Amino acid sequence: MKIFAHRGFSGIAPENTMAAFEKALAIKPDGIETDVHLSKDGKVVICHDETLDRTTNGKGLIKDYTFEQLQTFDAGSKFAPEFSRERIPTLEDLLRLIRQTDLALNIELKTDKIAYLQIEAKVVALLKVYDLVERTIISSFNFSSIAKVKKLLPEISIAALMKDPHTISDLWTRMAELKVVAIHPDHKYLDHDLVDAAQKRGILINAWTPNQPEELQRCFKLQINGVITNFPDIARQLLSKSNGD
Ligand code: G3P
Ligand code: MG
Repeated sequence: MKIFAHRGFSGIAPENTMAAFEKALAIKPDGIETDVHLSKDGKVVICHDETLDRTTNGKGLIKDYTFEQLQTFDAGSKFAPEFSRERIPTLEDLLRLIRQTDLALNIELKTDKIAYLQIEAKVVALLKVYDLVERTIISSFNFSSIAKVKKLLPEISIAALMKDPHTISDLWTRMAELKVVAIHPDHKYLDHDLVDAAQKRGILINAWTPNQPEELQRCFKLQINGVITNFPDIARQLLSKSNGD
């Protein structure tokens, strides 16, 4: 069972900031999940929403600001005042950090609402520069986006993001065509039949975002492959307990 820190250790630090990534490293999860967009001048930047409003003191769409302009916004105070120095990180900032560890990385391409020009190629190129291709899974709710990634670099691992897998028509045929290593469903829609079907096909299941102890326990019992959680510390403790350590 792999534990991924969702948007970094977002339970205790502002999501998708360097503070959240550093706090995640401190508790040694198996990996970190993050979300990427493009700035107006084409830099790959980290944020969950397409807009700045919820997590920063900026307003409007990320794609309408250059990277330099994005750096003027405070990405931490909305979480807590002591994080006021946090800025929107670049993907490179995170890659530099991950490189110093042995952690896995799950990069979610946020291309389901905005078609960011060449984001797939930019992310792949950066992973090559930082020599992190082998440790990374690229996921997206936009299946064309992960298909593009796979075409650019066949050896990279991709995963299909979805809410309820049962609503995806011809799920397993599509997953086979895409050559995904994993599906990343909402944990609420998991059941034994789905887990069996995935296992039979050699496809992994990493579920988001079980945060409550009982949600995490259910994922462990179902014997999926990974949890993407805001509380990797609690996940680690519960997992050790359920393994009888
Ligand atoms: O990648 C798992 C999860 O992050 C997907 O949903 O909206 O939290 O990015 P969201
Ligand atoms: Mg995400």
